[in-house]
Amino acid sequence: MARDTQTLPLTIKPDSPLFRQQLEISSQKTCDCKASHINCMTAKEWIKAQIGVWQFTYEKRDIRDKKLHPATFPISLAKKVISLFTHEGELVLDPFAGSGTTLVAAQDLNRNAVGFDLQEKYIDLCAQRLQSNNLFNHAQQIAIQDDAHNIPDYFAEESLSLIWTSPPYANLLNRKRKNKSRRGDERKNEQFGQVEQYSQDPRDLGTMPIEQYTATMGDIFEGLLPLLRPKGHCVINVPDMWWNNQRITIHIALVEELRKRGYELRNIIIWDRTNIVNRVGIFGWPSNYITMGTTFEYLLDFWKPA
Ligand SMILES: C[S@@+](CC[C@H](N)C(=O)[O-])C[C@H]1O[C@@H](n2cnc3c(N)ncnc32)[C@H](O)[C@@H]1O
Repeated sequence: MARDTQTLPLTIKPDSPLFRQQLEISSQKTCDCKASHINCMTAKEWIKAQIGVWQFTYEKRDIRDKKLHPATFPISLAKKVISLFTHEGELVLDPFAGSGTTLVAAQDLNRNAVGFDLQEKYIDLCAQRLQSNNLFNHAQQIAIQDDAHNIPDYFAEESLSLIWTSPPYANLLNRKRKNKSRRGDERKNEQFGQVEQYSQDPRDLGTMPIEQYTATMGDIFEGLLPLLRPKGHCVINVPDMWWNNQRITIHIALVEELRKRGYELRNIIIWDRTNIVNRVGIFGWPSNYITMGTTFEYLLDFWKPA
């Protein structure tokens, strides 16, 4: 277990003395509910949570500006996953933190959390969001600028209660936007023809074709497994994608890869995005039926077998 604890800075960057050092951050439950429970939910809340299709809305604090970050999930989604699989005071890891939505949700819920991203600009954005959220509680949230491959340097074995993330979706964003999901009159908006990619850094999973991406995700998550406590959950948000009229089944590739690396699949939850997609264009009519990827995504819920 991680030692208790020092006040950590909001960010750690490569020039910090804390870079690639084990963090002194608490991972201990601080609430009064029973340790045998997996979360602080009441029976009534649990019944609601059993529904396997989830919907969320964005709130004011959510980042929706694609120039700030091209692919964020809502704070309310992160809060639901964290509430389901942790107690107050426990430690959450987001290996691909982006704008820091997981960290903001953890701050709201009094959970310790650490997020990693390759890009300094996103680490700065995480810090900015945490500062303006500015809730007083005893938990700490930190954003670290480092490659997800190096995460094992920062944590003691079995100190994490939850790994929750939305990784890059292979090289889905690494091409000029055609806005095919938009209706004709809305297609040529300011995003049209832009490459909305995080970076062209070769370590960035968003630059990798699906086979290399899957193997790299497997390597990273194999390294994370010893850090997770037994029966700790690992939830990964991904869509599938279409490329040259072929479905690229990212979710199947990841389920198979993580199983090979020692994780056990528990649930596949559908994030129903129909309430937040814009007016959609027409695809394939009248001969080629294609469901629209923007209307739903997968939440792949694994755990570390006991
Ligand atoms: C889908 S975004 C995460 C968005 C986040 N859920 C949010 O709400 O802002 C994926 C992030 O992974 C980062 N990334 C890509 N490859 C990485 C790597 N090898 N190590 C750490 N971060 C990486 C990208 O910079 C990007 O910000």
